[in-house]
Parts: sequence; C-alpha cells; structure tokens
Amino acid sequence: MGETIVIKCGGSVLNELSPSFFESLQAMYAQGKKIVLVHGGGPEIGQMLKKLNVTSEFVDGLRKTTKDVLEVVEMILAGKVNKLLVGLLQQYGMPAVGISGVDAHLLEAAPIDFTKLGYVGKVVKVNDTFLETLLRFGYIPVIAPLGVDEAGQTYNINADTAAGAIAKALNVQQLLFVTDVPGILQNGAVVERTTVAEIEQMIATGIITGGMIPKVKAAAAALSKELAEVMIVSGKTPFYANGQLYGTSIRKEVGVY
Ligand SMILES: Nc1ncnc2c1ncn2[C@@H]1O[C@H](COP(=O)(O)OP(=O)(O)OP(=O)(O)O)[C@@H](O)[C@H]1O
Ligand SMILES: [Mg+2]
Repeated sequence: MGETIVIKCGGSVLNELSPSFFESLQAMYAQGKKIVLVHGGGPEIGQMLKKLNVTSEFVDGLRKTTKDVLEVVEMILAGKVNKLLVGLLQQYGMPAVGISGVDAHLLEAAPIDFTKLGYVGKVVKVNDTFLETLLRFGYIPVIAPLGVDEAGQTYNINADTAAGAIAKALNVQQLLFVTDVPGILQNGAVVERTTVAEIEQMIATGIITGGMIPKVKAAAAALSKELAEVMIVSGKTPFYANGQLYGTSIRKEVGVY
C-alpha cells in the first residue's frame, strides 16, 4: 500500500476546523496518500451529559464511564460527531465512510480499570484487514472511538488512544493529532521538539495535564521504526506550509531532524 496517515481530530476543535484543514486533506488524498481519520467528541459529550443531568468525572484526563455515561458517549460519538465529520469531508469531495470501533470488530477492547474508570477501554486488537480493505478502494474511514469485547459489551475509548493503536496496527508512516492548541505549551510557548523522556517529565512536573496526558502517552506508545515522529498541531490555524508541519514534534530520542 502507499503511504498512510492517521489523523486524530479533537472533539475540542471540530466546530472550528479551518478550511485549510480540509484543503490539506484534499491535497494529501489527491497525492495518493491513504487517510484514516479518528475523532474525539469531548465537549459535545460534556454538553449532552449536562443537558441530561448525568454526572461524570475525569481521572488522569479520562472520562469515568458509567452505563449512563456510555450511552451518551455512543450517541454523540457514533451518531452526531461522526456524521458531522463525514458530511464535512463529503462537502470537500472526499469519499468518507463513517464507522465506529464496534463495526467489523474494528477495535477490540478490554476495561483499563473497571473500578477506577468504568467502561473506559484499552485497545487489545485492531481489525487492520478491514481498514486496509476500505483504504484499498479509496475510501477515507472516519472512526468513532468505541470498542467492543467478545461478549458484545461496548467501551468508551479515548480517541487519542484509539488513533495511536490504529496507527501502530497499520504500520503507518505518519500520525497527526489535531487539537485546539498549537502543540505542547510550556510557559505559553509551543515546544517544537520533544522526546518520550521529556514528556514523562512534563507529566510529572504538571506542565502536561488533562486531555494532553492521553495524547502524549498515545504518541509515545505509537512510535516505532516505521513511525519515527508524531506531531501535535492546531486545527484552528493552518499547520502545513512549504512541505512542513507546524506544531510539536515527538520522537523517541533526540535525533537528527
Ligand atoms: N502543556 C500543555 N500544552 C497544551 N495543552 C495542554 C497542556 N496541558 C494540558 N493541556 C490541555 O489539553 C487540551 C487538549 O486536550 P483535549 O482532550 O481537551 O482536546 P482533544 O483531545 O483535542 O479533544 P477530544 O478529547 O474531544 O478528542 C488543551 O486544550 C489544554 O487545555
Ligand atoms: Mg482529548
């Protein structure tokens, strides 16, 4: 297969994606790149939970998921947000297909820690064959990060975690986290280059908190021989110019750029 890129689009930025985001996708697609899009839905889920008077709390940047919360997560991710993004891509002429990790057992899941987090899942297996089939025929899979186990129980999977697992399973050359900030920020400035060791330090010292924690952890876990670099960029402003991505670059170790 040709070059494949996994792009995780933050729920935090879905309503503010700039036209340049879709134009960049168009350009990549036109160049023959295979694109997999994974999306979050944090703010939308939060709003609906509030409307329905369902309480929820965050533990280490992850949303503790009771049965009631899970129902809302499924509704918003696989229903509202997924179809919104598919519709937007189609408006830009791209053949998007919206699925969730439940479809074709795409993301097989197991609880991370049921007592602590409820139905929050980790990915234990990815149906890469299914994704490769879609990609081979030119489709752009748009994936809502839900998982399912062998008994048919569904799970809420953090979208960053899901994107990282998919990138790893497909052995992709590129993984991009599009979010509402222009990268990892330290004292108000973007950290342009960082490493796995530095990330751990930034978590320990409280520079990296909340939703940035699962993001950098997913990035670190996805790095491999094939995937030497993971980028965190902003979806609000153009992040691609002159063949270069602007944001935070994460590598395993300090290396030659
Ligand atoms: N050092 C840091 N630099 C930048 N952002 C940080 C940092 N520490 C914490 N954050 C927070 O992480 C947030 C991004 O993660 P968040 O989970 O909110 O968004 P997302 O992953 O793009 O969306 P979703 O979770 O809906 O998919 C930022 O908006 C910011 O509030
Ligand atoms: Mg997030």
